[in-house]
Amino acid sequence: MITAIYPGSFDPITMGHLDIIERGAQIFDEVVVAVLENPHKTPLFSIEERKQLIEQSVKNLGNVRVETFMGLLVDYLRVKGARVVIRGLRAVSDFEFELQNATINRKLWPPTETFFMPTSTNYSYLSSSIVKEIAKYGGDVSGLVPPHVEEALRCKYGR
Ligand code: PNS
Repeated sequence: MITAIYPGSFDPITMGHLDIIERGAQIFDEVVVAVLENPHKTPLFSIEERKQLIEQSVKNLGNVRVETFMGLLVDYLRVKGARVVIRGLRAVSDFEFELQNATINRKLWPPTETFFMPTSTNYSYLSSSIVKEIAKYGGDVSGLVPPHVEEALRCKYGR
């Protein structure tokens, strides 16, 4: 039984994240989406809101769960008894940061293995930051995020 942890900020979840979750859920027995609660950052959506938006997005996937974590990813992995991490790669520009994180995580806890999945080309340009920027100025984010996230963005920005 292999549990893969898919960590991230998910502020908010996008179709790019969902693509990785759906494909990961076909490969691994279980995928746990782990939402980082970072006390040094002020996200648009609270940790509970981010968790709920993801839960609603994955409700049709039987082997996907959503949790939150604070602190180091490797400490969370150890507590969960998991060693597999999934991260999506959109472009070469993602690789440097992701390789650094994967290498540091393995130094901190050698059993950690990070699996990189290329994001589907339809979503290679997509990020939570871009979605927020578009939504903030009233642009159309349909197709970039699930419909309930679109609605949540409209509420946040008072549209
Ligand atoms: O969605 P993001 O913001 O690109 O996700 C980054 C994340 C959450 C995977 C990464 O920042 C992380 O694992 N943070 C927890 C702290 C940690 O363990 N950092 C790695 C060693 S420097």
